Amino acid sequence: MECMQSVEWQALQAHFESIRNVHLRDWFAEDPERAGRYTLEVDGLLLDYSKNRIADETLDLLTALAERAGVAAVRDAMFAGERVNTTEQRPVLHVALRNRGGTPIKVDGKDVMPDIEGVLQRMAAFASAVRSGEWKGYTGRPVRNVVNIGIGGSDLGPAMAYEALKPYSQRSLTVRFVSNVDGTHLAEALRDLDPAETLFIVASKTFITQETLTNARSARDWLLRTLQDDAAVARHFVAVSTNAERVAEFGIDTGNMFEFWDWIGGRYSLCSAIGLALMVAIGDTHFGAMLDGFHAMDRHFATAPLEQNMPVLLALLGIWYNNFFGVESHALLPYDQYLARFPAYLQQCDMESNGKSIDKQGRPVTGQTGPLVWGEPGTNGQHAFYQLLHQGTKWVPCDFIGFARSQNPVGDHQDKLMANFFAQTEALAFGKSLEDVLAEGVDPELAPHRTFEGNRPSNTLLAAHLTPFVLGQLIALYEHKVFVQGVIWGVNSFDQWGVELGKVLAGRILDELTANEEPVLDHDGSTNQLIRRYRAWR
Ligand code: F6P
Repeated sequence: MECMQSVEWQALQAHFESIRNVHLRDWFAEDPERAGRYTLEVDGLLLDYSKNRIADETLDLLTALAERAGVAAVRDAMFAGERVNTTEQRPVLHVALRNRGGTPIKVDGKDVMPDIEGVLQRMAAFASAVRSGEWKGYTGRPVRNVVNIGIGGSDLGPAMAYEALKPYSQRSLTVRFVSNVDGTHLAEALRDLDPAETLFIVASKTFITQETLTNARSARDWLLRTLQDDAAVARHFVAVSTNAERVAEFGIDTGNMFEFWDWIGGRYSLCSAIGLALMVAIGDTHFGAMLDGFHAMDRHFATAPLEQNMPVLLALLGIWYNNFFGVESHALLPYDQYLARFPAYLQQCDMESNGKSIDKQGRPVTGQTGPLVWGEPGTNGQHAFYQLLHQGTKWVPCDFIGFARSQNPVGDHQDKLMANFFAQTEALAFGKSLEDVLAEGVDPELAPHRTFEGNRPSNTLLAAHLTPFVLGQLIALYEHKVFVQGVIWGVNSFDQWGVELGKVLAGRILDELTANEEPVLDHDGSTNQLIRRYRAWR
């Protein structure tokens, strides 16, 4: 029987009815130990989850649900290289990419660690050659610009992590990421670059993705317009892929290809060769420190009891709001400008993984699965959408992510940033009652507008400093959170069939947009009309 029909689920439903109206104000007033009890620290990453609408019983029942779902067994199967991606019959082994302990991990009886380490060494040698200027372009000049061409998992991970770890990067290199098939993205990325000093990393797991191949072809044309010799491509293009045949077909020497494997999902591939642009930017030592952070969280996830397991806790809290309170979204609010792309990155991780309505057995799920994931860095969001977070008719559970020390300790900026950080979680949780507002002498007519009901939950993740290690921990934390939720909802978090239909239709429509003769259109009336108008205006 699936989890959402289980007695554990029903027990949670009954418990929910009994505590749905309890206010965080009361829980904190009743229990001075609450904050300490609902805090967990793992290798310098602190999670305070006390501002959640939970009691001890909630956690017990949620943990029982995780046990019922077999979270530990499926987790162990993933780590052991079993084919937990059931619809594609593949193992799911992003954890092997950062298996820093060196223990063997086998797929079909073969230890994958030597291959992983071999690619990491090739990446490190290449990164060092580019960074030192030893790798020369076709005209003998060193590389000054690195442009990663990829999309989805072949873009968001390295692009996000490059932004996050910019202080650790070699500033003499310009590193850019081009993903959108909109020609503007490529044109703007290249407009001030010199082809003789530019290296392209074409990153695509499948090497058939329309956007990436279109951008890569146009980048090659741009290069050859100046360098005028096909032989230049070998000095200015490298590929990252699982598909050597397609890489060769595209015209990139497979000697310049960095390999990964079909048991790495695109959105889980940052620690593979997909991270090459990042490694070139920050160097292999910092890249290694990031892998250490991933590994530390992997070990915690693999070994900590469920009730003290950070990814499991985040997953269960998410389920509590998503499935029992019926909230639809989840906000990620990093109070660090370097993490500006973190919500977008996790949007793919979460929504492409658990945006499913069919379970592993092929049946429709009986309850809600993945939430809408969104967010922006603070404090910017406070002056944009936080009004709704505080007083809107719908509420949104939030994860606040902050750091004690800034990478750029300018004046008192960091204290101001973090004062806002702490203030927001306090205001959301405790609000401001009508009595308090009236007691301040506010006009009674205005008082309701100035009241904050509070009881809006949040998690706080706090670390001393945003280092490569901490970034690795944070990403692994959310990857495993998403994994646990997928297990409980009974979906396969590792396929993405939902992106296919649009790709097929786009292929057909492309021919219709570009046909010389007026095409016979047999879409629906709206699509037919829009295509005709586009052709007329094109
Ligand atoms: O269309 C979705 C998707 O398949 C993602 O899952 C993936 O990260 C992205 O496209 C890019 O795919 P590739 O790395 O094969 O170019």
